[in-house]
Amino acid sequence: MPKVTEQHVLDALRKVIDPDLHRDIVSLKFVKDVKISDGAVAFIVELTTPACPVKEQLQQQCRDVVMALDGVQEVNVEMTARVRKSMSAADIIPDVRNVIAVASGKGGVGKSTVAVNLAVALSQTGARVGLMDADVYGPTVPLLMGCGDEKPLTESGKLIPLERHGIKLMSLGFLLEKGQAVLWRGPLVAGTVKQLLADVLWGELDYLVVDLPPGTGDAPMTLAQLVPLTGVVIVATPHDVAANIAGKSVALFTRLNTPILGVVENMSGFLCPHCGEETRIFAGLSGEELARQYEVPFLGSIPLDPAISASGDRGIPSVLALPDSLQAERFRRIAGAVAAEVSKAALMDKELTGTAAGGEERPGTDPESG
Ligand SMILES: Nc1ncnc2c1ncn2[C@@H]1O[C@H](COP(=O)(O)OP(=O)(O)O)[C@@H](O)[C@H]1O
Ligand SMILES: [Mg+2]
Repeated sequence: MPKVTEQHVLDALRKVIDPDLHRDIVSLKFVKDVKISDGAVAFIVELTTPACPVKEQLQQQCRDVVMALDGVQEVNVEMTARVRKSMSAADIIPDVRNVIAVASGKGGVGKSTVAVNLAVALSQTGARVGLMDADVYGPTVPLLMGCGDEKPLTESGKLIPLERHGIKLMSLGFLLEKGQAVLWRGPLVAGTVKQLLADVLWGELDYLVVDLPPGTGDAPMTLAQLVPLTGVVIVATPHDVAANIAGKSVALFTRLNTPILGVVENMSGFLCPHCGEETRIFAGLSGEELARQYEVPFLGSIPLDPAISASGDRGIPSVLALPDSLQAERFRRIAGAVAAEVSKAALMDKELTGTAAGGEERPGTDPESG
């Protein structure tokens, strides 16, 4: 029987390509801890996100290519993940690895619904997630997350985020008195949002999801420039796409040099509660075509379904309230696609700046190990 070496195993694993990063998993330094005893090979594959949509396929491929080596009888592949930090998320919130903004061309398109379900779906994979509601016009995240009238406590002058459904939560709404109207001018927006970032004890987070104010006006622009964003997810309905409201939003963030993680089409079709079939309501350009036109990723679509708004009203995001539904499945897929885009952005930052991947993390913070 030929003797298998670590080099044989690594050479075989070079055939396994990460489909998002377009690079083999050995040169990406994902393969760790190769152990060989007789014909049994064991190793760890450390991905850049626990939300990786192709985790199982990669695991199977790793097993297959090593199994094909002469002298190997048994292969054990352990999949873990460590979320890398994108450079843009530095400074003001050093323990937050990535900041994902959710934006839309106008209000009422489901931006907050997407933000909340994205946050919960990411956290369900084992990632550490925070959610910041920075919508100066309508801070509804506390309602969607079932926080009611709760207010955050403070600790030595810093705010402690509320925790709901496994997510750390902070909202502009917490800082306002009920029914209080605020005239949000640029400097006030800037000051308050800085406070939500810097004066909150976020702790270590893999992803901080930020619900931005809608539109292309002063408030979202100030925010996008103020918050060190890894990238932005643009939520659009078929109507926004048709009326070029979504396109303007994409163009704005491009002009601000904010990486666009992709487009989510919401309320894309009617989901029949009887037969479960999805029927598109609006004719014309779809979110997918919009994404193609602007050369940004298309992250997925969510049907129009009364159950989504019903679970929102109850303060339980769809992915938790109806985990087996089509929309929950779509939200999970979108979360996987967003995480993949974030991993790409982090890899790009690394290549542009030449820093080592994951150079800023401390050991022992693998979201799946603890
Ligand atoms: N796919 C959907 N199907 C049905 N209702 C939805 C869907 N997405 C959002 N809604 C509902 O539409 C309303 C607006 O959504 P919301 O997330 O608050 O929008 P935005 O934050 O863009 O203003 C809410 O009542 C929400 O429950
Ligand atoms: Mg909203």
